[in-house]
Amino acid sequence: MTAAIDQSLATIRARAPGFMPRLGVVLGSGLGSFADDIKPVAVIPYGDLPGFPTPGIGGHAGRLVLGHLAGTPIAALQGRAHYYEHGRADTMKVAVRSLAQLGCKTLLLTNAAGSLRPDMAPGSLMLIADHINFAGVSPLFGETGDERFVDMVDAYDPALGRRFRDAAKIAGQTLHEGVYIWFAGPNFETPAEIRAAARLGADAVGMSTVPEVILARHAGMKVAALSVIVNFAAGMSTAALSHQQTMESARQAADSVSRLLTGFVADYGTQDGEAA
Ligand code: HPA
Repeated sequence: MTAAIDQSLATIRARAPGFMPRLGVVLGSGLGSFADDIKPVAVIPYGDLPGFPTPGIGGHAGRLVLGHLAGTPIAALQGRAHYYEHGRADTMKVAVRSLAQLGCKTLLLTNAAGSLRPDMAPGSLMLIADHINFAGVSPLFGETGDERFVDMVDAYDPALGRRFRDAAKIAGQTLHEGVYIWFAGPNFETPAEIRAAARLGADAVGMSTVPEVILARHAGMKVAALSVIVNFAAGMSTAALSHQQTMESARQAADSVSRLLTGFVADYGTQDGEAA
């Protein structure tokens, strides 16, 4: 694990000499186009970075894009691996830790999710305020040391959340806020599971993000996360659920996501995230 991180860091530093990103971004299903807005310093396929995931599903490019957005040096992970691909919750461990060691103080996560709220239709954006780890596994299984007992209160940084709200207001966008529940997947949920999730307090459902939040907090990074609502969850509408629909809806929302993220990143750059 450490060897993989060291090798990946050496490759990144060789291809982007002196570049120090302050913000890491993970781009979820259908949201990779945000990386097109980055003025690139280097673009590195995950295949060149030991321990980085090999995304196995459509809509995930599998590249690390290093460059500037709105003046802020950022490192964008275009594509992620999921727990359901290999039954391992730690597939993003090397990638997240490498970003932390490169200098990213914050990790900004995005995903495509299903809505549990009738007032939050497909196309909506939801700031994640908290999560429920319904998959019941941790990317920190097997870790040693007291740091593994990560405090998950305010895992989603409240000050960064305020700045997201400000960015949405400036862009004239509606930004919902709620609790994300992580189901292991890859199958979608049953209607009974979604009713149960709603009773547990969930507002959106998805198959990613939570392990990365845990890894980032363990690595000492602040976290902000955004769900792009791409469907009503199982049993809430007559529309059939499919990955293809997830991708289409995410692509349709990509422009509004980019607008919101760019506003957030520009503000982050002026403050270096530290005043947050
Ligand atoms: N459930 C789980 N994951 C998802 C969904 C959903 O309804 N939509 C997009 N990702």
